[in-house]
Amino acid sequence: MQQKTLVPIVRSVTGNFPSLTYSVAVVGLGYVGLPLALLAARKGHRVVGLDINAEKVKSINSGICPFFDVELTERLANTRLPADTNFARARDVEIIVLCVPTPVRHDHIPDLVPIMEASKSVASHLKKGTLVIVESTVNPGVCENVVLPILERGSGLRAGADFMLSHCPERVNPGDPEWNVENISRVAGSLTEEGLEKTLAFYGSIVTGPIRPMRSIKEAEAVKIVENTFRDINIAFVNELALSFDRLGIDVVNVIEAAATKPFAFMAHYPGCGVGGHCIPVDPYYLIAEGKRNGFNHRFLSLARKINNHMPKHTVDLLERMLRKEHIPLKGARVALLGLAYKADIDDVRESPSLVMLEELEKRGAEVMPFDPYVKNARIPTLRKALTGAHAAIVATPHRSFRALSPHDFLECGVSIVIDGKNCLSKEAFVGAGVQYRGIGR
Ligand SMILES: NC(=O)c1ccc[n+]([C@@H]2O[C@H](COP(=O)([O-])OP(=O)(O)OC[C@H]3O[C@@H](n4cnc5c(N)ncnc54)[C@H](O)[C@@H]3O)[C@@H](O)[C@H]2O)c1
Repeated sequence: MQQKTLVPIVRSVTGNFPSLTYSVAVVGLGYVGLPLALLAARKGHRVVGLDINAEKVKSINSGICPFFDVELTERLANTRLPADTNFARARDVEIIVLCVPTPVRHDHIPDLVPIMEASKSVASHLKKGTLVIVESTVNPGVCENVVLPILERGSGLRAGADFMLSHCPERVNPGDPEWNVENISRVAGSLTEEGLEKTLAFYGSIVTGPIRPMRSIKEAEAVKIVENTFRDINIAFVNELALSFDRLGIDVVNVIEAAATKPFAFMAHYPGCGVGGHCIPVDPYYLIAEGKRNGFNHRFLSLARKINNHMPKHTVDLLERMLRKEHIPLKGARVALLGLAYKADIDDVRESPSLVMLEELEKRGAEVMPFDPYVKNARIPTLRKALTGAHAAIVATPHRSFRALSPHDFLECGVSIVIDGKNCLSKEAFVGAGVQYRGIGR
């Protein structure tokens, strides 16, 4: 069904539908789905969580958060959230929200299998009047060209006439102390006016942030991809500056911080050893692929991805150069790799540059001692074990406990070469203490 453009609505709505109670199935109980399911349950909706991962479901039913998140752990202990692997439980609900992963394959082609499988799983349980909302990040066209036909085929119902389909991408940044699933603003697009109204009513009943209605699903899909691509491109810009300024002897961080004193038209982004997570290094590929399908080459986006993908290798090159100065070949050198998660104070290693550096270091013959206080099964159990006997260290994740490290913490373990992959240590303090310190672009 080709979507007609809905009547433009420019007004954003805010959470003012507190008395509505829906029965809701949240499909995919990960970093996005679990907080949403818990929030909806806390706001009085009858919620069931569905996931193909039986272990995760068991953990949630026991009140144990399956991943590291202090707030969610507490919420789960205090909120009843039945979870199931049986998708027949979607039969009894008015709203189904899909929060499954949208990764890319090794060749950077979008992998739509999880969203297709999840759509298939709920399709046979769809009944007339159900609203299906896609929260997963997808490129423009996926809801209508991929999800919709699967739902129609599996249910024998017609989208728009028998059931509603909307997109309301999640924008939350897990671990962010300021913006969470409840207060972050939303955008929503739907196939029909009725679907849009119900989507706004549902989110209006659970979130406090404003919700901006979009004229179409496609526009809503584009918003989320644009946001994350914007970030990827800006990071690529400062990463490129870091590589160039290194040769000019300019500290790029000082320059960025000074540029940020301009009160308008500059937004500070910072260079680092790579971009990780399930969003920023992934979502641009969805737009690149969709552009290609439509005969358009997103040159700018592809270049940004290339620059950011190069940063882990650049960081290893930097380390190799620093070791060479001390007449230590990387082959056979022992390297402490501090941090495996892609960002601070979480346990998520998806697309983490640390994993690329680990592989690259091992490929070049280094003995790598990876340590991460949040990641279960990190090879080395303590910071001291990782550092002791190492020729050099790379700080790859700005975990709070790493940011607090002093030059002395490294030097007392015999480590005098430190690569600050996230520019999160005090350059002055480290250089002043006699550490061979290098940041990214400083
Ligand atoms: N993690 C983030 O920071 C973030 C932020 C905003 C948006 N998003 C988007 O939200 C979506 C979900 O991301 P996430 O980080 O929560 O992923 P996740 O991997 O943490 O969780 C996804 C869950 O879906 C389950 N799943 C996979 N296939 C399934 C299927 N066929 N049926 C039912 N369940 C299935 C998995 O077992 C897993 O529990 C993605 O599209 C992502 O881009 C993520």
